[in-house]
Amino acid sequence: MKGKKVLVGVTGGIAAYKTAELVRLLIKADLQVEVAMTEGATWFITPLTLETLSGNKVITRMFGHVETPMDHIRCGQDADLIIIAPATANIIGKMAHGIADDFLSTCMLAATAKTLICPAMNDRMFLNPAVQDNLALLQKRGFAIIAPGSGELACGTDGPGRLPDPTDILEQALIFLSERDLEGCKILVTAGPTTEYIDPVRYVTNRSSGKMGYALARAALRRGAEVVLISGPTHLKPPPGIHFCPVKTAEEMKVAVFDHLNGCHIIIKAAAVSDYRPKETADQKVKKGAESLSLDMVKNPDILALLGQTKKDHPCILVGFAAETEDLVENARKKINAKNLDMIVANDVSRKDAGFETDTNAVKIIYADGRIEASRLMEKIDVAHLILDRAKALKDESP
Ligand code: CTP
Repeated sequence: MKGKKVLVGVTGGIAAYKTAELVRLLIKADLQVEVAMTEGATWFITPLTLETLSGNKVITRMFGHVETPMDHIRCGQDADLIIIAPATANIIGKMAHGIADDFLSTCMLAATAKTLICPAMNDRMFLNPAVQDNLALLQKRGFAIIAPGSGELACGTDGPGRLPDPTDILEQALIFLSERDLEGCKILVTAGPTTEYIDPVRYVTNRSSGKMGYALARAALRRGAEVVLISGPTHLKPPPGIHFCPVKTAEEMKVAVFDHLNGCHIIIKAAAVSDYRPKETADQKVKKGAESLSLDMVKNPDILALLGQTKKDHPCILVGFAAETEDLVENARKKINAKNLDMIVANDVSRKDAGFETDTNAVKIIYADGRIEASRLMEKIDVAHLILDRAKALKDESP
């Protein structure tokens, strides 16, 4: 994203305070951010806040910019993306009808950049036919609109009108700004741990947070792929726009994977599947009794190995993960052969800065033909892009 420019237009609604977080996230994603605020917006959040977060002067007035008198023409043409958040009924109406009576509305008349409108207002205002017609008109003209969330609104009512979470606005922005090199590609990702129940309140699980698998799903979505994410229990929010299948046990994950296998070009098994499950799951909570207790465990299906066995019926690029604490490469290589994989991503999970629960990862990518590629320590989203680059190259090379 380095070097790409985003213009954030902030208008006068209570949700304006949330744009501070949005601007912070955009900057964190390596984007250059410029902010234009209407006079109304400055009642809800100060320009200084957004100036500090964006690192750029915030534009609030049409006139008086002696050094940059053409900002109203430049801003909307310089940007790779414009985000109007929150978009009030007023700016939506002005944009739909070509009214230019302040900096932002004038800038929008001259703008050429792709624009994402994020309406946020009272539910009655949002559902008013005038606003709905204006939104429909803007959509027809090629503006992208994120539907507001439903729920409790600042004015005390309940309904549609909440500004979507800034992380969801960021995600949509990154989809617009990314190169869509995975368009037409269906990618299935598994993520997280599985939980194997002992009784209704206890289970056996592992330390997987799901962060690597979710990063893969997010990166693939941004690049235009159709994404199925099959996830064990995690605390993560699935990115909007993916087909999300939550599961708990390895058995459930196996069923979900085989249900969604059809038409997949790439399958990435980042999930940490429990190798064993309790032989019996008690219907009722097991009561305390003897001084010691043994758990009888039976083997779970190896989903990846099953996929490897059926590869001739479902040709696709099969990518596994190898979570290891010793002999990383040797153990990972054995898994490539045993499970008929095209590529395995080997993780040293004993490191503090890589593997389970961390936001960063350093991996070794090992190919079926014996090649090894070591990555430096990177954010998991960057590791995800690297894995997708390599899996895509294998797909493009395959007959
Ligand atoms: N895997 C799977 N089903 C299982 C176990 C593992 O699909 N029952 C997949 C994982 O999603 C991962 C790969 O197999 O992509 C390797 O998992 P890992 O736990 O590293 O290895 P195992 O094959 O389980 O072997 P071991 O635990 O002995 O290292």
